[in-house]
Amino acid sequence: MPGNSFGQFFRITSWGESHGKALGVVIDGCPAGLKLQEEDIQIELDRRKPGQSRYTTKRNEPDKVTIMSGVFKGQTTGTPISMMIVNSDAISKSYSGFKDIYRPGHADYSYDKKYGFRDYRGGGRSSNRETVARVAAGAIAKKILNKYKINTFGFVSQIGEIKGQKISKSYIEKNPLRIADKSKFSEMSKLVDLVRQEGDSIGGIIEVRTNGVPAGLGSPVFEKIDAKLASAIMSIGGVRGFEIGSGFSIAERKGSEVNDEMQTKIKSKVEFKSNNSGGILGGITNGNEIILRFALKPTSSISKTQSSINTKGQNKKLKVTGRHDPCLCPRAVPIAEAMVNLVILDCLMENQLTNLKKISI
Ligand SMILES: Cc1cc2nc3c(=O)[nH]c(=O)nc-3n(C[C@H](O)[C@H](O)[C@H](O)COP(=O)(O)O)c2cc1C
Repeated sequence: MPGNSFGQFFRITSWGESHGKALGVVIDGCPAGLKLQEEDIQIELDRRKPGQSRYTTKRNEPDKVTIMSGVFKGQTTGTPISMMIVNSDAISKSYSGFKDIYRPGHADYSYDKKYGFRDYRGGGRSSNRETVARVAAGAIAKKILNKYKINTFGFVSQIGEIKGQKISKSYIEKNPLRIADKSKFSEMSKLVDLVRQEGDSIGGIIEVRTNGVPAGLGSPVFEKIDAKLASAIMSIGGVRGFEIGSGFSIAERKGSEVNDEMQTKIKSKVEFKSNNSGGILGGITNGNEIILRFALKPTSSISKTQSSINTKGQNKKLKVTGRHDPCLCPRAVPIAEAMVNLVILDCLMENQLTNLKKISI
């Protein structure tokens, strides 16, 4: 499979390259009758766009979306929705030096091995610019899910070795690092500033939570919702680790500590005393909050001198110039939220079709 489409029922196909004329997405399967305007999409794209602060790349893209099809008189028609975002600040000459040299840590070498030919300008299709497509599609998924009172939010929980402890939801969009623990801002921002000045970069961890998810989403065996979420998140460039609920720390604990014991209190409403499973059991949601985390590597494009090879296999030294994020985390938050929303909506739509009790005839 060429790999540019995602989802079964709310199916998106992403297209475009970092330095091509435009990027975009086609959504097949969006229900008719949803009120939709470009502003709904733009809000999310503005959260993802470059040049937001000194902690992100200086590439100055307005990322203005145009809805090309599937919407009539402000409502979705049930036909394919196509959205386009024009590239207006691509400086391709910054990449002419990497035409024949592989940037270490980026996808240049592996793309060349697969295709034998690659668009080297800004990483082409392997660039994070591709994610405008997912964020645009995710904005529509979010709008539908909000109608079901399903809400997703993400935040940066760690940068380098500095860990956030508190979660203040209202603080996340108020700070350029998108952290949730205000008390760590000064320390974390100093670290990002330092690596930027050194021509280096730094990694981090993002946490995403979804509340309001009903029990029963996801399917057994190969279509588990946690497997789909892992696939969705791992498809974002630079992701090196993924966990659900207690994740990797569960390896150090006993069953008696981590089984989420159940009880009912008010009107037989099921409650879990804890949420080590991150809201998913057997690949199916249990009604608890979905909690996932992922680790992002430090940006590979750094201006320190590094070793690599050219297309002839000769050893070379290079410094990666151009405009790059010193820490991928802040801008990855809306991208991850979009991917989570796409997975949950797809599972919700699947449930309408696979469970007779849910279909009203
Ligand atoms: C929000 C975001 C921004 C990114 N910006 C850059 C960048 O400026 N420079 C860069 O080299 N990589 C950047 N990346 C990472 C690359 O896309 C990624 O490392 C590359 O596609 C290779 O894929 P891999 O790291 O998953 O193996 C970014 C990733 C994300 C999620």
